[in-house]
Amino acid sequence: MNILVINGPNLNLLGKREPNIYGSETLNDIKIWVDNLDFVKAHTINWYQSNHEGEIIDKLHEAINDNTEGIIINPGAFTHYSYAIRDAIVSIGIPVAEVHLSNINSREKFRQKSVIKDVCITQISGLGKKGYADAINALIKLI
Ligand code: DQA
Repeated sequence: MNILVINGPNLNLLGKREPNIYGSETLNDIKIWVDNLDFVKAHTINWYQSNHEGEIIDKLHEAINDNTEGIIINPGAFTHYSYAIRDAIVSIGIPVAEVHLSNINSREKFRQKSVIKDVCITQISGLGKKGYADAINALIKLI
């Protein structure tokens, strides 16, 4: 299966950024851990990170034509207010799983709202890097 993993703004700073909340591993550490899980090795996982809403939307659109079969997205703070990313998810017709490293449901009020939750196949929140593995599993089971 071809899976695209999109990470949004500030996730390039993982490892340095609020390690008490997001842990001490970098995004590349997480990528290496996920890619080397036995059940993941049989699949093609493409990792993408951007701090820009429009670039994330362009990447979602590109997935229509590049054989992407499932998408995992951690949209960072865009989760809470980007109707444009929500519209893109609906437009492409590819299953999308939402992932957050921290538990957004137990943090500030503004983080508890996800505007993409109901257009994704699942929301996985608060499991750290394991959330990405669980999301791959959910997509594999679905397709
Ligand atoms: C996050 C949670 C968001 O509220 C925050 O803006 C992030 C990371 C997470 O992975 O826990 O950037 O998506």
